[in-house]
Amino acid sequence: MKSVLITGASGEVATHLRRELAGNYKLRLSDLRPLAGKAKGETYMKADLSRMADALRITKGVDAVVHLGGYSVEGAWENILQANIEGCYNVFEAARRNKVKRILFASSNHSVGFYPRKQRIDHRVYPKPDSRYGVSKVFGEALGSLYADKYGMEVFVMRIGKVSDKPIDKRRLSIHFSPRDLAQLVSIGIDKPGIRFEIVYGVSNNTRSWYDNSNARRLGYRPRDDSEQHAAAIVPKKEHPTAAKYQGGSFTHLETMQNPAPLPGKKARRTVSRRSPRSAR
Ligand SMILES: NC(=O)c1ccc[n+]([C@@H]2O[C@H](COP(=O)([O-])OP(=O)(O)OC[C@H]3O[C@@H](n4cnc5c(N)ncnc54)[C@H](O)[C@@H]3O)[C@@H](O)[C@H]2O)c1
Repeated sequence: MKSVLITGASGEVATHLRRELAGNYKLRLSDLRPLAGKAKGETYMKADLSRMADALRITKGVDAVVHLGGYSVEGAWENILQANIEGCYNVFEAARRNKVKRILFASSNHSVGFYPRKQRIDHRVYPKPDSRYGVSKVFGEALGSLYADKYGMEVFVMRIGKVSDKPIDKRRLSIHFSPRDLAQLVSIGIDKPGIRFEIVYGVSNNTRSWYDNSNARRLGYRPRDDSEQHAAAIVPKKEHPTAAKYQGGSFTHLETMQNPAPLPGKKARRTVSRRSPRSAR
């Protein structure tokens, strides 16, 4: 049985994934935060990914890494920098030093969030991040490409839509990713022989999808769920005109209170919102 490290194991995606993958792999779970509970065959190692020593400790002796740990929404640059830039670098570099060949990287629809909704995109489009968060995901994708080409690592990038049991708004009908489809795609990423560097969309077989996910299909992905079955239950909501135009939704216009910092001599712009985009992911 393969031994697989999951970073960000206390988070939302990992909680779905652990349930779905139970019994298929030996799971080493790691997070800054404590874990809610451990199942049979799971082990837990606390780690701060922004510390290389921690990253080296947790990647030792595993067959693959599913890298989910990080800051998972738009936020202050300092947070993004530490968790998603330094943390991501440390995970790739520690895996290389520990001779772990295979890494699955949780990228996001927000790495391409400034593509218009009326455009169907595949895995070959150039990045169009919609936020500092999105930029950090593009960084992770680029790092994966570098480590594949330069060091022969096997890198599987998943541009995840929104993982949940059911979508709760119109936008999410296009990016829905059910837990069992997530588990199928992750299993392909761990087990498929011959992967060098691949980008796939982490979404179900949604009727309203914005993605041409033929690269995932080529690798054997056959999603079983379609968000359309939930469409009738969605209550229509008015969207900001910018959000309504682009795939990234509210990430294309919302800001946090801290960032971007005002330029010297200028007042902070009042277009920033106190609302966190967490709920809009
Ligand atoms: N939830 C989704 O549908 C979705 C969509 C697109 C992309 N993603 C990506 O998938 C991954 C998992 O998302 P999630 O929704 O489970 O996020 P989450 O915020 O629920 O979990 C992320 C976990 O990472 C941990 N973490 C943060 N900084 C860390 C550090 N420095 N060291 C160690 N652990 C750290 C947090 O403690 C947290 O438990 C993230 O990388 C996210 O960007 C998620």
